Amino acid sequence: MSFATIRSLVSVTFILLSLRVVANPTPTSIVTVADLPVQAAFTVPIQKIVNTTGGINIAQSGRARWSSSQKVFLQPPPAQPGTSVNATNQVITYTMKLGVGSGTYQDMIVDTGSSNTWVGANYSNPYEPSEQSSSTYGIVQVTYGSGLMFGREIIDIVNLAPGFTIEGQSIGSAIFAFGFNGFDGIAGFGPVDLTKGTVTALLPPSGNSQTVATLMNNIHAQTGIPEILGVYFAPEGLSSENGQLAFGGIDQSKIVSGGIGGVFPTSGQYWGVPSTNFEYGNTSIGGQQTCIADTGTTFLYMSSDAFQGYQNLTGATLDSTTGLLYITSDQYSNLKNLNINIAETVRIIVLELSIANLPHIISQMKQFYLTPNAQIFPRALNKGIGGDPNKIYLVAASSGTGSGSDLNCIIGLVFLERWYSFYNTQNQTIGFWQTSLTNANTN
Ligand SMILES: *[C@@H]1O[C@H](CO)[C@@H](O)[C@H](O)[C@H]1NC(C)=O
Ligand SMILES: *[C@@H]1O[C@H](CO)[C@@H](O)[C@H](O)[C@H]1NC(C)=O
Ligand SMILES: *[C@@H]1O[C@H](CO)[C@@H](O)[C@H](O)[C@H]1NC(C)=O
Ligand SMILES: *[C@@H]1O[C@H](CO)[C@@H](O)[C@H](O)[C@H]1NC(C)=O
Ligand SMILES: *[C@@H]1O[C@H](CO)[C@@H](O)[C@H](O)[C@H]1NC(C)=O
Ligand SMILES: *[C@@H]1O[C@H](CO)[C@@H](O)[C@H](O)[C@H]1NC(C)=O
Repeated sequence: MSFATIRSLVSVTFILLSLRVVANPTPTSIVTVADLPVQAAFTVPIQKIVNTTGGINIAQSGRARWSSSQKVFLQPPPAQPGTSVNATNQVITYTMKLGVGSGTYQDMIVDTGSSNTWVGANYSNPYEPSEQSSSTYGIVQVTYGSGLMFGREIIDIVNLAPGFTIEGQSIGSAIFAFGFNGFDGIAGFGPVDLTKGTVTALLPPSGNSQTVATLMNNIHAQTGIPEILGVYFAPEGLSSENGQLAFGGIDQSKIVSGGIGGVFPTSGQYWGVPSTNFEYGNTSIGGQQTCIADTGTTFLYMSSDAFQGYQNLTGATLDSTTGLLYITSDQYSNLKNLNINIAETVRIIVLELSIANLPHIISQMKQFYLTPNAQIFPRALNKGIGGDPNKIYLVAASSGTGSGSDLNCIIGLVFLERWYSFYNTQNQTIGFWQTSLTNANTN
């Protein structure tokens, strides 16, 4: 399924429900908003890795990931005249430890933007089969914005935490991997649809049309733990704790109870929130955003018109070295919240029924935000990204596509470090919740 499918989720449901509205003219909630998920069955710590040696034009490297996703799964990448796309790493990456076969892999990238799990990116720490290993006789190939991998697809055990071992997990063993220096591989927590086309079976039934069960699919199938992943990241400067993944629910101790939060319908290949818009202070910027939440992306990418509006209102200047916007300290003291409004339910109101008076959709929006401090790049890292240590860089960048595109926005770590996120594969919902770091001054 593509992002177009996510967008049509709203309109298809609208058509079905509009029939019901005829009989019942009161506002109708289309999407049932589930309550917060239950407490997780178990949690694992994750590590934050900051690589500032990527250097030139770090905003561009996130767009590279993006264009590449579109190339593989959707449509040709947006034209970005005058820019070349470098396969550079992300600045901030979160990793977890995974036991695969008889090997241990400390530096597995935690990625909600992809769904295959594979090891062997570090040739000195290749896949080590256990006694339960078997071959699928399949070849796996996955392309990412920041690199690619090619290898054999095998079946083996995967250990997530003491006492939590998955049996018969399909795993990639890299023969060749590019763009993952310093890492062992990827733990893919995206929806299973995203694995379609990645594994080519050499034995009948041959071809690559089958999906490959993800870690989350198998945890659920083998233990009954709900297919919910809770993700907690800590922003730069708070070194006491790096982050945590929660399996089967969320870690209630990591969120502000009674705080701001919401659960949204998602669908298809990515963890997407199809109907989102941005406001700077109280001023709306840009049109509709179709966003994905991606733990493998550092920055916040918005449509080009929203970005232009943001630049205008903040008075920021585009820095040609880093590709990021920067502001003066006066502009920083005047910075307003950047609001991210996500459609939570869709209501239909019919005042007077006639063909000319079609039902009207009103989206009830839930408002999240980045505080002024959350909108700036951690100043301690300026020098490492090739920036000026005295400049104040902003974390919002342009995706290079306009409003109304099927995919024009990536909600990356700069947001996910401020809001707890949870991903429910069974009910196809994604949620965000306030944490004690939402309003923290750390940058
Ligand atoms: C950091 O990123 C650069 C550029 O992408 C890469 O060459 C380098 O190996 C990375 N270093 C580490 C320690 O990950
Ligand atoms: C891409 O990399 C080349 C060489 O590594 C560099 O000269 C160029 O500026 C980079 N382009 C961007 C957009 O980062
Ligand atoms: C690769 O793996 C070896 C063996 O585990 C380890 O010593 C080395 O530090 C790893 N390299 C990187 C760049 O992580
Ligand atoms: C999915 O939604 C149903 C109905 O609201 C609920 O009973 C069930 O517990 C949910 N499952 C998960 C894993 O959230
Ligand atoms: C923005 O809107 C809020 C609520 O709608 C209001 O309380 C606040 O005064 C407004 N701020 C400005 C600067 O207009
Ligand atoms: C930004 O400012 C420029 C120059 O003043 C103006 O032409 C443009 O319409 C503005 N764009 C937005 C989206 O506000």
